[in-house]
Amino acid sequence: MDTPPTDRLPRTVDWAGDHLVAIDQTRLPHELVLVELRSVDDVIDALVRLVVRGAPAIGVTGGLGVALAAVLAEHDGHDAVWVQNQAARVRSARPTAVNLAWGVDRVLALLTDVVDPAPLVAEAVRMVDEDVATNEALARRGAAWLRGRVGAPLRILTHCNAGGLACVEWGTALGVVRALHEAGDLLEVVADETRPLLQGARLTAWELDRMGVAHRVVVDGAGATVIARGMVDAVVVGADRVAANGDVANKIGTYPLALAAARAGIPFVVAAPESTVDLSTATGADIVLEERDPDEVLSWRGVRHAPSGTTAWNVAFDVTPHDLVSALVTEQRVIEPAVGERPG
Ligand code: MRU
Repeated sequence: MDTPPTDRLPRTVDWAGDHLVAIDQTRLPHELVLVELRSVDDVIDALVRLVVRGAPAIGVTGGLGVALAAVLAEHDGHDAVWVQNQAARVRSARPTAVNLAWGVDRVLALLTDVVDPAPLVAEAVRMVDEDVATNEALARRGAAWLRGRVGAPLRILTHCNAGGLACVEWGTALGVVRALHEAGDLLEVVADETRPLLQGARLTAWELDRMGVAHRVVVDGAGATVIARGMVDAVVVGADRVAANGDVANKIGTYPLALAAARAGIPFVVAAPESTVDLSTATGADIVLEERDPDEVLSWRGVRHAPSGTTAWNVAFDVTPHDLVSALVTEQRVIEPAVGERPG
């Protein structure tokens, strides 16, 4: 599909009449390219390869994927059981972000015995629009909490990409950054590069650059030193699943930042929509951590840098215990797990 104009960013993922359109995040920052997802296999492939990634964007894509299955069922003469089976396939594309199951289930709930795609499409499109409003609300709430707790202007450390690319337009952690920046309350962002797929160096840096935010990228191993040297005032990250006790799953490398923040006495803030809070998961120990292809660690863009006999444990997420989370900011509330408040 054509490269869109770069002055105004298209939505990360959207509905286009009878299929999905998404920014191909594997090609950023070098190319801003939209891809069309016209089959359920296309949707699953986009989720697995991180063409679309980030918990809220994954959730919206799940909902749109079910709507697409219903449209295809009506066109090709499949029944409701077929749609349910396709929805189950989409739901299991990635295990850690609860938003995926949330998005799939929300749209699937409108499936009737005789497949009528219209209400499913309408619900999925509603999810796209809601995501923008939800994340703007939580971003402004998070910015206000930080101003109240730390003051301004602020220097922020973030990990992975929790920006507009991880949602539909407004980000979560980078939404907080955007709100601070627009208010003139931001000095600098330090972005972890985020091994092995470089969501920080490729995507967060790209978004910060577009926003005109002063920023630097550091290797993941430098995060604790950035904190210990007093180079940032707070750590702000997104989340893939928040357990009922306040434990937080997010991109691998988040937990060490929380430890370092606690040691240095600076806030560790998690910005996430309510759809990321999973009250049916009691603690972080119950969260399935996605394990990906070892080649993502052992090679870069197809070029192997580890010895041929070496293998890897490519765990994509970690769990930060609730006692290290200064604030969990959603579109509805701020809770402070470190002082005993719980989401559930
Ligand atoms: O593997 P990814 O790139 O989907 O991981 C994304 C993250 O870990 C984000 O921090 C999280 O989903 C929050 S996005 C607002």
